[in-house]
Amino acid sequence: MVYITRRERFSAAHKLAIPAWSEEQNFKTFGKCANPNWHGHNYTLYVTVKGIPEPSTGFVVDLSTLGDIIKEEVIQHVDHKNLNLDVEFTKHLMTSTENLAIAFWQRLESRIAEIGGVLHCIKLQETENNYVEYYGE
Ligand code: NI
Repeated sequence: MVYITRRERFSAAHKLAIPAWSEEQNFKTFGKCANPNWHGHNYTLYVTVKGIPEPSTGFVVDLSTLGDIIKEEVIQHVDHKNLNLDVEFTKHLMTSTENLAIAFWQRLESRIAEIGGVLHCIKLQETENNYVEYYGE
């Protein structure tokens, strides 16, 4: 089994806050991500696919095709958007990195299966110091 990864990047705005809470409580829990007037992150998304290399091409899946799928299903919807307001598949969520990784998995899994790959991991990096990994469990 071989694991291959495609990296894509996007920039987006969001806010993490629970409306019923005080501003102070939100800042205590969510830090700078609770800023009432939004803020942005430069996200890096790593999509890892597993499979057996196809004998003729030597590819698990075509990485350029994988990149196109990630752009179609995720990047074009979220890049330079407000994740809490603009994006159909994230605006009902607390837009934590964890929840975004799950939402991206749900959009990508079947599309990747169509090109013969098995989605293994969504890794989403929000800042230099923080990232999450989701394996579909
Ligand atoms: Ni944030």
